Amino acid sequence: MADEAVTPGGLARVLSDGRRLPMIGLGVWQVPDGPECVQTVRWALEAGYRHIDTAQGYGNEASVGTALHDSGLARDQVFITTKFLPRLRDPVAALEQSLRRLGTDYVDLYLIHWPQDGPTWAWPGMERAAESQRARSVGVSNFSEAELASVMEIAGTKPAVDQVNFNPYANRRALLQACERHGTALEAYSPLGTGRLLADRTVGRLAAEYGRTPAQILLRWCVQRGIPVIPKSTHRERIEQNLQIFDFDLSPEALASLDALDTTGGTGTAQEHKWW
Ligand code: A2P
Repeated sequence: MADEAVTPGGLARVLSDGRRLPMIGLGVWQVPDGPECVQTVRWALEAGYRHIDTAQGYGNEASVGTALHDSGLARDQVFITTKFLPRLRDPVAALEQSLRRLGTDYVDLYLIHWPQDGPTWAWPGMERAAESQRARSVGVSNFSEAELASVMEIAGTKPAVDQVNFNPYANRRALLQACERHGTALEAYSPLGTGRLLADRTVGRLAAEYGRTPAQILLRWCVQRGIPVIPKSTHRERIEQNLQIFDFDLSPEALASLDALDTTGGTGTAQEHKWW
């Protein structure tokens, strides 16, 4: 699962295609394009993050590219994820635009952002993006168990990742098990419940017990189970704090009390509505 790395941000999960997805990345959803996004990504790279997760729909790929370029880090030292916006219709052409904005000639991971108009139509284009090496790994996001199974049926190259809303309230056990059966890595977005879970009483109790922050408890709950996370923050001290999760273990009892916060009833369904 996780292995040794120079920086904690480089600790990685090995994907089904043999590539390494860092256990933690900075998510930049809702970070405005421009100086704020450039600075946020810069802070993350300085702190030791080695994965930045953006999307065509976020409108901030150019800022991610600027920060990456300014960092002076070699391209192969940083893992970049972007996501195909389904209304653009052509994954290959859309990726070319992303690469131009990012100022790079490949992304490490390219995901279908959501299964708009059905789960399978875009997959052949994703496979072409992978064949050309412009996307090193390909996968999906916001796909349910059934939607992932549909892609598996038609796929030559299997989705390496399903990035979904996942945290103790959305502890989507059935989806996690389906991903494991398919050899697809479930990657957690909104691991802090977009901030909502930080005020949870159980999380607060564990934070006091472990001498950690609520955010660290929530992120540790994922990574200790082998689930990569992409928390978002635009505050430097929080960005740094969120990386300090590889030097302690939650006990089985602590993990179980977080598991018990689940509101999905052990199903694969998150309580979010579908926005597409
Ligand atoms: P901010 O960006 O103002 O720091 P998620 O990753 O689940 O979507 O959660 C993101 C939300 O949680 C954002 O509102 C972010 O606020 C906040 N957040 C991220 N890290 C921390 C932290 N360590 N402590 C408190 N709030 C945090």
